[in-house]
Amino acid sequence: MSLTDRINYHLKELAVAANPAHSNHILPTIGPTDQSILDVGCGIGQTLIACDVNLRNLVVGIDIEHDSVAYGREISDDILFVNSCAESLPFSDNRFDLVISRVALPYTNVPKAIAEISRVLKPGGRAWFTLHPFRKTREQLVDSARLGDIKQILFRLYVIANGISLHLTGRVFNWPLTRQAQQFESWQSERAMRDCLAKQGFDAIQFEQGRFFKCEAHKTAQHSEPQMPKITRRTLSEQAKPAKPVAVDETT
Ligand SMILES: C[S@@+](CC[C@H](N)C(=O)[O-])C[C@H]1O[C@@H](n2cnc3c(N)ncnc32)[C@H](O)[C@@H]1O
Repeated sequence: MSLTDRINYHLKELAVAANPAHSNHILPTIGPTDQSILDVGCGIGQTLIACDVNLRNLVVGIDIEHDSVAYGREISDDILFVNSCAESLPFSDNRFDLVISRVALPYTNVPKAIAEISRVLKPGGRAWFTLHPFRKTREQLVDSARLGDIKQILFRLYVIANGISLHLTGRVFNWPLTRQAQQFESWQSERAMRDCLAKQGFDAIQFEQGRFFKCEAHKTAQHSEPQMPKITRRTLSEQAKPAKPVAVDETT
């Protein structure tokens, strides 16, 4: 996808997020105790913008696409945008009350991303995801076959195999033909996600499969690490400055 296509996609999703009547509209419920919120794979911040998260202590969106994050910074002052990847979150342990990820986990190394989300969530914190069920990947494979697009057929077969691997072994594999540093995609089964989340200290794992495949879970309260120093919006901005994602454990 070109840069323009990517930004146009995110703008379209922003319009969907802002329109409760749209058939693709889905947003997390955010309560008064969700004072620190992280969106993994935020795009231009469409979900957070639509959730109206101003007046929170800390609202952060991370995305692997540099240009999307840059665009997000232009359109929202309420969100701290960080160009980083889900598999290596540049935040210290126990930072966030709520981590959300709307249709971004399917494009990550799922077990690594879940481990990172667990690490940065406070004990008792909540995770909210939307995922890709098998039927979506099957439909995409059928579409590719109809078009006779061999490259896409191969890629969709990889996505199907990756989802089966996640289901059976809890592991996913990088697309071997990528020119990027990493490219993952898989579909998710409830069993795979339950195993993955339970392994990383989540409980109260719930799924909803309808128009969307939604998953919610809590990090167990006893999954407690020593309390980290308090983080401020300024501290995070400073730590996010380097071009490459950095570990930000040493707070002021
Ligand atoms: C389908 S879009 C969803 C964007 C937004 N969450 C929404 O709901 O509209 C997936 C997003 O995940 C991001 N992404 C993919 N792999 C990622 C990774 N490993 N780490 C962080 N972001 C990633 C992409 O750049 C893209 O912006």
